[in-house]
Amino acid sequence: MEHPVHKLLEWYQRNRRDLPWRRTKDAYAILVSETMLQQTQVDTVIPYFRRFMTEYPTVGALARADQEAVVKHWQGLGYYSRARRLHSAAQMVVDEFDGRVPSSLEQIRQLPGVGAYTAGAVLSIAYDLPTPAIDGNVLRVMARYLGVREPVRQASVLCLIEDTMQSWIQLVSPGEFTQAVMELGALVCTPRNAACLVCPLVDSCYAHDLGEVDVIPAKTEKKARRKANVGALWIEKNGSILVERRKPSGLLAGMWQLPAVEYNGSEDVTSHLHPLLEELYTEGGQPSVEESTAPYLVPMATERHLFSHVEWSVTVYRPVGLTLDLGVAQASTDRMWCSLADLEKLAWPRVYEKLLERLIGERVKI
Ligand code: ADE
Repeated sequence: MEHPVHKLLEWYQRNRRDLPWRRTKDAYAILVSETMLQQTQVDTVIPYFRRFMTEYPTVGALARADQEAVVKHWQGLGYYSRARRLHSAAQMVVDEFDGRVPSSLEQIRQLPGVGAYTAGAVLSIAYDLPTPAIDGNVLRVMARYLGVREPVRQASVLCLIEDTMQSWIQLVSPGEFTQAVMELGALVCTPRNAACLVCPLVDSCYAHDLGEVDVIPAKTEKKARRKANVGALWIEKNGSILVERRKPSGLLAGMWQLPAVEYNGSEDVTSHLHPLLEELYTEGGQPSVEESTAPYLVPMATERHLFSHVEWSVTVYRPVGLTLDLGVAQASTDRMWCSLADLEKLAWPRVYEKLLERLIGERVKI
């Protein structure tokens, strides 16, 4: 009897989507695409991948680029630390691996941001080496095929799936295999309403046999997202806006935003924003608040954004009754005045991009 992996590959040959990163075997291009595709949908990635490869066609070009510019090209894809690590990885490839993305598992894993999944994907797709790439979609496909009722992240289940993938990948072209499993997960063996009728593996799929396609893989309880409010300040002077850079680590590391504070719950925003105003005042060296007229905060716009663990509600306030000195720009390397026209040159989190579009309207396209 024909091994199911052959049926899978025949199906892939007939049904594969023509995606830009499938037209190349260049390991650098595969590394870029696989990095972008982590946690981001194919349709979203396509235009970003094209632009990125036009801007940085080789690993050398990326290594020489300014990291801020690289992050700017990533703007809107989210998870920006991926962009920084990819940039560092390109520099390591140039400095330590003669400008060639390594083809050994041990070496490629040394690159920043390259975990087991990315390593497997690049080695199999670019170099046709039998190292499987296992992500959430692949786990779903294989857990169903093998009829695994236990949570897929359990070590014993991972081992079983890895062993199966390892034996299957030996039988065919590794690059084709990796992409075929992913494609099955994307087009047929989807999280909901799997299209078992057209699945090339249906005859030997355990979950299908058991009538449990809808309940495998077992759902793990998701932690509820933490809700956080963000109060941001719109401080405009002589056609420039006061902007600040986020901390170099953590959520949206190093990106630009309006001066802001994050706070939990429904407490009054004023109590959170006043210390920030005081800080700006101290930096600027001029009184920000006239004794008699405390500033009050006029809300201008609110946008929400869902991250994997946090839900943000960002409101921009315009302080009224405040005079600031341009000295604030020199006082802190993380804050500066930026002209309206130059705002688009900075890398903004998506939620601020939306806010700025609303606040500035047609004045400048961010
Ligand atoms: N998701 C992750 N890697 C992919 C690839 N190479 N093609 C399509 N979807 C993917």
